[in-house]
Amino acid sequence: MFTSNPFATLSEVISPAMMQGYIVLMFLLVMGGTILDMLHKKSAKYFFENAKKAKKSAKREVSGGEKVAMAASVLVKEVLTSGEFDNPRRRLSHLLTMWGTILFIVSTAVMIFSPESTSTLWPQLWHFGALMLAVGGYWFWFFIRADVAAEGLPAFRLERADLFILSLLATATFALAWSFTGGGVGVLFALFILSSTVLFGGVYWSKFAHMFFKPAAAFQKRVIMADGGRENLPPDYDLTDPAVHAKFPDVPQYMGKNPPNMGLCIKAERANHY
Ligand code: HEM
Repeated sequence: MFTSNPFATLSEVISPAMMQGYIVLMFLLVMGGTILDMLHKKSAKYFFENAKKAKKSAKREVSGGEKVAMAASVLVKEVLTSGEFDNPRRRLSHLLTMWGTILFIVSTAVMIFSPESTSTLWPQLWHFGALMLAVGGYWFWFFIRADVAAEGLPAFRLERADLFILSLLATATFALAWSFTGGGVGVLFALFILSSTVLFGGVYWSKFAHMFFKPAAAFQKRVIMADGGRENLPPDYDLTDPAVHAKFPDVPQYMGKNPPNMGLCIKAERANHY
């Protein structure tokens, strides 16, 4: 079941060229949706203006080598391993959803663009990717989503912000159901294509494009920490330092000469919700 390529039987009814055309169209829709989203929210404009503003409060120049190291660290931490999530459940669910989606999309493209291939590896990756995406996504939807897990709202309440996760889940679910019931052209196939068209065609209205914006934001955050600008936030003072006592005389007055390091307030409670 896992080793059979559902697109191979489909090609008896729909030509490989048509399927390839659909993939190209979806790719163009994602590009177009992302560009429109950037133009509409002016996010790229804001991003570059903010970076220019932040540069004015920089205390030093960050070298090209440091920037390469930062980009590599963003790739390993934020992109490949979802390191932005402090809550381990959210991180694991995001890893399953993200890697499942990547496996599913890449194996779909490979199988459709090499219709003569008899490899059983790609069909297995396709099924495995869709399952990973479904497990991570349903876990997120029913148990982790902030308005359900932390705000106690019902799991079936829908908002436009849910378009991304729901179209992802529908695509994976109908793809698996279509393949497990023998493939071909029928209701499940129509639902699979409908949901994937909503997923890739709905980029402008959904959270799809976060996968392109978040890495850029994570990189920029590292730059402003490294150049000392810190977005004009105060530095992390060492409260036992006499120079800090001289600058803020009320510190030793209220907290003694050797105050304990109490850490960041935001870290006072374990990241359980968000
Ligand atoms: C195939 C790629 C990806 C998929 C399928 C994916 C999926 C998701 C989903 C389903 C959510 C929850 C959205 C919701 O609230 O409805 C989410 C949130 C999030 N993702 Fe991703 N993601 C991907 C790539 C990335 C990348 C590359 C990054 C970072 C570099 C990232 C960072 C985040 C962050 C920080 C959140 C939580 C904050 C928020 O809701 O805005 N994701 N992602």
